[in-house]
Amino acid sequence: MQLVTDIPSLKGIIEEKKQKGLSIGFVPTMGFLHEGHLSLMRKAREENDFMVISIFVNPLQFGEGEDYEEYPRDLERDTALAESTGCDLVFSPSVSEMYPPGYATFVQVEKLTEGLCGASRPGHFLGVTTVVAKLFNLVRPDRAYFGQKDAQQALVLIKMVEDLNMNLEIIVLPTVREPDGLAMSSRNKYLTSEQRKEAVVLYKSLKVAEALIRKGEREAEIIKENMFKTISEAKQAQVDYIEIVDTKQLSPVSRVKGRCLIAVAVKFGQTRLIDNVLVEV
Ligand code: PAJ
Repeated sequence: MQLVTDIPSLKGIIEEKKQKGLSIGFVPTMGFLHEGHLSLMRKAREENDFMVISIFVNPLQFGEGEDYEEYPRDLERDTALAESTGCDLVFSPSVSEMYPPGYATFVQVEKLTEGLCGASRPGHFLGVTTVVAKLFNLVRPDRAYFGQKDAQQALVLIKMVEDLNMNLEIIVLPTVREPDGLAMSSRNKYLTSEQRKEAVVLYKSLKVAEALIRKGEREAEIIKENMFKTISEAKQAQVDYIEIVDTKQLSPVSRVKGRCLIAVAVKFGQTRLIDNVLVEV
């Protein structure tokens, strides 16, 4: 496995693989890898000749007062984990390699980025689409792998690929969870032991919603009220949003019908956690 930190070296290696006609699978990450990331990497390994991951904590997608500085970083541990999945190349550039002085170009997907996390984190998705567009141009993958855990991010990136006629397939894989149901996230590391115990309420609230829908409940307000009650059982939980949206436009629905995404964002102190489930009726 190679560790590459500069763009010219990366471009040279990718060009050589392309010349040989090898397919390229790509998993972009911000590092501090966990089983969620590793599940994407194993799939990318399985489906492609050459497997690349990126590890880059992208300052552009963090808002002011967010956790850019504190975001956990451990490149040594990450490269060992990457190697264990059969990864061929880790691209881990510096901020100035990606955004040299005078950098001035941004990619923005409209509408889909307005609600959910886009409403609570202005500018976040502009940072995500810009960095992922740059990474796609550099790595030139045939397939790129993303997690359902960040459902809105995956949809926004699918839209970007479609609208900008990018020549690759985006594959979205299921959320990997801890044994108690908490979605794996690099940010779980911030939680105190008390908060960690309480954080299971995100998953519990989604299960409550699924159970109500199974019993025939369709009113979004009633489902959301019950989810709110479940989350409120956790003393330190502060709800950022509880939403039920359609899976195409991500617009809130008043009644559950067809395929819907039920999504929550909850803060424990400064730590903001998200989770979601897809339901179909
Ligand atoms: P990061 O949070 O490191 O996540 C990298 C990828 O892993 C994303 O596609 C995310 O959805 C997926 N992932 C995270 N937790 C997961 C879980 N529990 N189960 C399954 N997949 C999971 O998302 C980002 O980084 C960044 O925004 C990035 C796309 C790299 C752009 O900077």
